[in-house]
Order: sequence, then structure tokens, then C-alpha cells
Amino acid sequence: MLEVEELEVRYGAIRAVRGISLRVASGELVALVGANGAGKSSTLMCIAGALKAAAGSVHLDGEDITSGKPETIVRRGIATVPETRDVFPDLTVDENLMLGSYIRRGDGKGVAEDRARMLSLFPRLAERAAQPAGTLSGGEQQMLVIARAMMSRPKVLLLDEPSLGLAPVIVDQIFEMIAVLKKTGVTILLVEQNVGKALSVADRAYVMRLGRIAASGTAAEIGAQTDLSALYLGA
Ligand SMILES: Nc1ncnc2c1ncn2[C@@H]1O[C@H](COP(=O)(O)OP(=O)(O)O)[C@@H](O)[C@H]1O
Ligand SMILES: [Mg+2]
Repeated sequence: MLEVEELEVRYGAIRAVRGISLRVASGELVALVGANGAGKSSTLMCIAGALKAAAGSVHLDGEDITSGKPETIVRRGIATVPETRDVFPDLTVDENLMLGSYIRRGDGKGVAEDRARMLSLFPRLAERAAQPAGTLSGGEQQMLVIARAMMSRPKVLLLDEPSLGLAPVIVDQIFEMIAVLKKTGVTILLVEQNVGKALSVADRAYVMRLGRIAASGTAAEIGAQTDLSALYLGA
């Protein structure tokens, strides 16, 4: 479904992503793991259209979407939750959720169904639907931005470090949420530094190091790799 070929991302002279190739099949949950600075976010943001590709390509269902405008990419079916986890603090949880459906004007019925579905899948959000989003805990805000991304009814969901800065018990809840979303059939590319947690929900994984793919395989294969910590730590 999602095919990234020889992708390169640069910031001036800095080569953040140095020719990476990866694939995510329909319904798969693929983890992209690696140390801080490995190039994971740059990869994700380039797929999302927020950064231009210096080389290489991104295809969705065979269609070239390389360096498309972010809104175009959303319309093609890719929703992204960046690591910044931004909610609109003065808007309610429900209003924040509805903003995720901005590309679906004219599909009031479908949007209403998806809103009801998100609120029933994630009762914690339903309980807080009328509350300003700024009053939510960090973990609840993370749930909200993920649910908001789902409101565009994406084929592919890109998640950047959903566990970042959250307490372990909350991290468990976020990963439960990701597992629930996977069961709904959405295809997921999950960027994480928390390798253990990422592998616990992923079908397959790629390990990124210094802008390149250092290893790839099933979650079990990557988890069993003895030199994983060396790859991961960039040693
Ligand atoms: N806006 C930027 N300007 C310059 N360099 C950047 C910028 N964003 C990221 N980088 C650099 O690109 C590399 C990859 O960063 P990033 O994609 O954020 O990695 P990760 O998400 O794996 O931590 C790092 O060396 C980082 O310092
Ligand atoms: Mg990052």
C-alpha cells in the first residue's frame, strides 16, 4: 500500500535521511525504530508532505505522492500525528475531534458515524467530550490527536513517537489504543524510540540508524536480534 523508495531528506548540508526504502502492506502495523536523531521523524514528515524529498519516491496504492502538499496527502488517505501532539487547547475535545474531518465536507453522515465510533472505541474521550482539550492530561491529549487523525478516515496512519514523555502506565494505554485501531483495519506506520513497546504491537519493523535502514524483519526477528542494542544505540 505504502512504498518508500530510496528516499532522501536534507536540511541544507545535513543529510538526515540517506536513501531509505520501506513498505507497509494493507492492514499491516510497521514500526520504524531507532535512536534519537536517526532520521525517523524526517522520514515520516517527508511521507506526509511536510518536508520535500531531496531524492527518491513515495507511492500510495501505486500512485506517486512524492513531495505532495500536506493537504493533498491527507486527501489521498494518509493521516499523520506529529511528535508535537498539538491540540487546540481552548476548543473542546469534541471540537478538536471534528477538526480532523475537515477534508470531508459534504459527508456529514460518514463523519457523524466516525465520531460516534471514535467516542465508543475510546470512552475516556467520550467522558471528556465537552471539556476544553487544554484540560486533558498528556496521555489523553495523545489519544485525542490520534482519534482526530482517524477522523479523515485514512488508509494509512503515521504516528510519530506516541509514547514520548508519558508515564509507563499511560504508555501502556496508548499502545492498547494503537492495537484497537489496528483491529479496525487501518494501516499503521509507527515511529518509536520505545523499541520493546513498538515491537509488541508491530507485524514488522525497520531499524533506522544515521539516516539509513540498518535492519528489517518481522517484529519477532528484530526483537531476537542480539546486536539490536548496538544498532539501536548507534554503536
Ligand atoms: N529542522 C531541522 N534542521 C536541521 N537539522 C534537522 C532538522 N530536523 C532534524 N534535523 C537533523 O536531522 C537528523 C534526523 O532528525 P530526526 O528526523 O528528527 O530524527 P529522529 O526522529 O529519528 O530523532 C538529526 O541529525 C537532526 O539533528
Ligand atoms: Mg523524531
